[in-house]
Amino acid sequence: MSQPWSPESWRAKPIQQQPQYPDAAHLGKVEQTLAGYPPLVFAGEARELRRQFAEVTQGRAFLLQGGDCAESFAEFSAGKIRDTFKVLLQMAIVMTFAAGCPVVKVGRMAGQFAKPRSANDETIGGVTLPAYRGDIVNGIDFDAKSRVPDPERLLQAYHQSTASLNLLRAFAQGGFADLHQVHQWNLDFIANSALAEKYSHLAGRIDETLAFMRACGMDTSPQLRETSFFTAHEALLLNYEEAFVRRDSLTGGDYACSAHMLWIGDRTRQLDGAHIEFLRGVGNPIGVKVGPSMDPDELIRLIDILNPDNDPGRLNLIVRMGADKVEAHMPRLVRKVQGEGRQVLWSSDPMHGNTIKASTGYKTRDFAQILAEVKRFFAVHQAEGSYAGGIHIEMTGQNVTECIGGARPVTEDSLSDRYHTHCDPRMNADQSLELAFLIAETLKQVRR
Ligand code: PEP
Ligand code: CO
Repeated sequence: MSQPWSPESWRAKPIQQQPQYPDAAHLGKVEQTLAGYPPLVFAGEARELRRQFAEVTQGRAFLLQGGDCAESFAEFSAGKIRDTFKVLLQMAIVMTFAAGCPVVKVGRMAGQFAKPRSANDETIGGVTLPAYRGDIVNGIDFDAKSRVPDPERLLQAYHQSTASLNLLRAFAQGGFADLHQVHQWNLDFIANSALAEKYSHLAGRIDETLAFMRACGMDTSPQLRETSFFTAHEALLLNYEEAFVRRDSLTGGDYACSAHMLWIGDRTRQLDGAHIEFLRGVGNPIGVKVGPSMDPDELIRLIDILNPDNDPGRLNLIVRMGADKVEAHMPRLVRKVQGEGRQVLWSSDPMHGNTIKASTGYKTRDFAQILAEVKRFFAVHQAEGSYAGGIHIEMTGQNVTECIGGARPVTEDSLSDRYHTHCDPRMNADQSLELAFLIAETLKQVRR
């Protein structure tokens, strides 16, 4: 590392998208409390995810990353965590079984609270208040008191993250993710759809395969009974992230132990900025969102800083162009990275470049545009001879009506039925499964 790094070296750099806490002493006290709390993950787990990322980068696996745009304090329950986990398991098994491709599963869960915003303020009916920045910062209600950033929220976010991660670990390893349960992962509300039928058919084939393996005495592998599941969130609030940096006793390296993987958003990826400075020094696998304003030379400089050793497990470029911009902006980025021999994991976020306002005023996304962005992402990689390694999506196991379209279409008029997101519109289970089947088909062709 050329310049010295420390967990607090980001503090000397320009920083975007931070809340203005009215009481700095209160914030400092909370930071100290957090620093004394147990970390959420162990460095060895982050290294294991890095090993799995390297498999993806080298074309031997696929990365599925998904969850809420913003977790919230109000929508915190075992049922919600379980249902999102179920849909992720279903998506992963569709891709694994239909395309014969191992899937690395990462939740936008157990820590995905802080949100970058397009404006610092929000004005409604002539009243202007600070923007909502996620439950870890302030409250969503449009009143002056709720919108004041409150450091106590950092503590609540930590406690909610630990409880969520505890349940996710239990589900992943305690029998819930056992492949013999593949039928049980179907959610009741999609039970009568064409997609549910397609999924049941696939689950039936998995049952047959497992019965065959049992008959041959080959069903003793622990991989059939449990799964690996990792967590990730946007590293936006660096005072929170700094509090969870821990020196790994095995390797002597520093790790960000608030999640297995952290990513930098499209609005905070300035080369000389605080977010890049913080993440360059931790040993976790990391992501960077890549939007249409990214220039190929800038991308190489970013890779120089974040992955100087050209490690294939280190850096995930999460491309979020918008369906109509992928073809114009992505090929030159991929060509430059390939030309320079840089090893990166390319994944597609087909959500954040496709946000629109419905005529009814709701922020939404058209499922057809989401599918189109994913298809074009695969097509660009096919044309450039690179590997389309993953997707990064906003989804939930709840039967929400937030994105329009899909096999059982959500219309502009039905958006108001069950629109619950605290930030961006998420795909529901139907839409998520439909996307998984499309990716499985594409992966099968690419990997043939
Ligand atoms: C997000 O992932 O919720 C997000 C804000 O993304 P981006 O940084 O790509 O806009
Ligand atoms: Co979002």
